[in-house]
Amino acid sequence: MPRSLQDLIAEIRDSASIVDVISYYIPVKRAGRSYKALCPFHPDRNPSLMISEEKGLWHCFGCGAGGDVFSFVMKMENVDFMEAAKLVAERVGIPFKWEGRGRWDNILEICETCAKYFHNVLLSKPEGEKALHYLQGRGMNMETIKQFMLGFAPPDLKELLNLLKDYPNEDLENCGIFSKREGRLHLILSGRITFPIFSPNGKVIAFGGRVLDDSTPKYINSWETALFRKGRILYGFHLAKKDIMEAKKAFIVEGYMDLIALYSAGIKNTVATLGTALTDEHLRLLKRYCEEIYLAFDPDSPGMNATLRASPLIEEAGLRAKVILIPEGYDPDTFIRKKGKKGFEEIVEKAVDISDFQLKKALEKGDEGRQEAIDIISNISDPGKRNEVSKKLAEELAKGDPEMVREYLNWITLEVRKRRAGDRTKVRVTATPSMRPEEALGKMEKVEKEFVRSLLLEPSFIKPVTEIIKEELLSNSLLRSIYSKIKSLAGEGFSRGALLDMLEEEEKKKVSEIELEELPPPTEQVVYDCALKILEIYLKRVGQINREALKLINEGKLARKKSIVSLRSLFKTLQNLL
Ligand code: UTP
Ligand code: MN
Repeated sequence: MPRSLQDLIAEIRDSASIVDVISYYIPVKRAGRSYKALCPFHPDRNPSLMISEEKGLWHCFGCGAGGDVFSFVMKMENVDFMEAAKLVAERVGIPFKWEGRGRWDNILEICETCAKYFHNVLLSKPEGEKALHYLQGRGMNMETIKQFMLGFAPPDLKELLNLLKDYPNEDLENCGIFSKREGRLHLILSGRITFPIFSPNGKVIAFGGRVLDDSTPKYINSWETALFRKGRILYGFHLAKKDIMEAKKAFIVEGYMDLIALYSAGIKNTVATLGTALTDEHLRLLKRYCEEIYLAFDPDSPGMNATLRASPLIEEAGLRAKVILIPEGYDPDTFIRKKGKKGFEEIVEKAVDISDFQLKKALEKGDEGRQEAIDIISNISDPGKRNEVSKKLAEELAKGDPEMVREYLNWITLEVRKRRAGDRTKVRVTATPSMRPEEALGKMEKVEKEFVRSLLLEPSFIKPVTEIIKEELLSNSLLRSIYSKIKSLAGEGFSRGALLDMLEEEEKKKVSEIELEELPPPTEQVVYDCALKILEIYLKRVGQINREALKLINEGKLARKKSIVSLRSLFKTLQNLL
């Protein structure tokens, strides 16, 4: 049996033939050294999905999907990574079992023990009575309390610490709810109702704790740990996952109580942020299961405002977003308890597009809101949508006068165009002045891509190159993150499998694209040229360039001997110049 989950994943990856696994789902044809298929993820007439058996990667040059064998099964079966790994293991006949304990197993066990203990106190100990009454008073029944494993953390820690006596103190301190004071462990949740926070696959990884009265802070949450990052976790996601997939949409609320109220009223495709704004990680997680999100936030809450500012992220994630207008004086919890599921569905019907909502908010501010409205429109990337919202704004401003609508529309179009051009000039500094901004961006990405490609295809370059090029030099965030992972493997010896284990899905997609493009093999000279270009762009971007440095770079570009060794000495000289 493999020693750890990581070893098991490596074993599955090594044993699975990606071609076999993909052919299980779709017909695959041989094409020279690789294989081709019609892509199942977009309407495809010519086979644009390429598979490389030797690299264990696939990529669709039509729609951009790609990754390793697990990515394919995840996408095809709509399952998460662990489930996909299990399916592939079954297909290749490897038992999905591993022995030994992973690095985080103690922490997971401690969290689970705590959750169960608190739950038990709430349900059957005298210390929990008051908390139980409180929750019941807020409309919760036993079924809900059990589903969410709600609990109460008694002020006396003796019993709990006894349950945890076999774990080293260090592990207790690392699980995010115990702090050490004068040599004694202290539970930050003491005297509070506990809300276990679950990972997407249903393991307790953190807690929220609410007071029983009006004292502050109202909630205390676990601090962030190795397992718990607020920007990544959505409360309730483990329960909502299936329903989100079926409904193809997700409701997003701000609070524990809001989520629980909606869920127990039968609106199960709901998740909650944990007192933070939506992040791109949240959005990417949701995007795997649905296309559309409905924000049910308190309209003037910090969460709503932050989300409005983050609406470009929503757009970037490829999600549609609507805003549910919760009537004044309510939050989703109190609203649904008062008006029921039906009442809630009525306000869902009336939900407005996020850009319309933003527009409305901006215009409420009067004249100064106009510039904000222009900003909002400028941020919409889809030209069709941009026009549509521009028209709406024009109509709004013209207050029904058709002549004025045209005037306003002209003005808006002009302003938006200016704004969008202005945004792009931020990039322009990094490019030769004669280049159009899109071209410049594309060029930078191309250079960085070529650079990463050289390392992926010629791993012997990795060690020497990563000693010279720091990751902040790369400007494309996806490529930078892939590069930093390649870099982190430089010491222990690079392997494609080890890298794939570290990559997020989005990064795997990029790697498969890079690796499967049919281009000539990389040479040392290419690496040299790319590295120099990356450095030049970086120095210009941070405004840290002088004439001597520029001269040196230009000489470097023209040099006859372009080796990694000469690159290193050039970098050294350069460092002394800056
Ligand atoms: P709310 O104040 O809306 O909480 O904060 P709520 O869920 O409606 O709680 P009740 O109804 O008053 O009991 C929304 C979320 O913000 C985070 C929590 O995650 C909360 O659920 N929050 C709020 C904190 O982390 N700390 C706080 O002090 C307050
Ligand atoms: Mn509330």
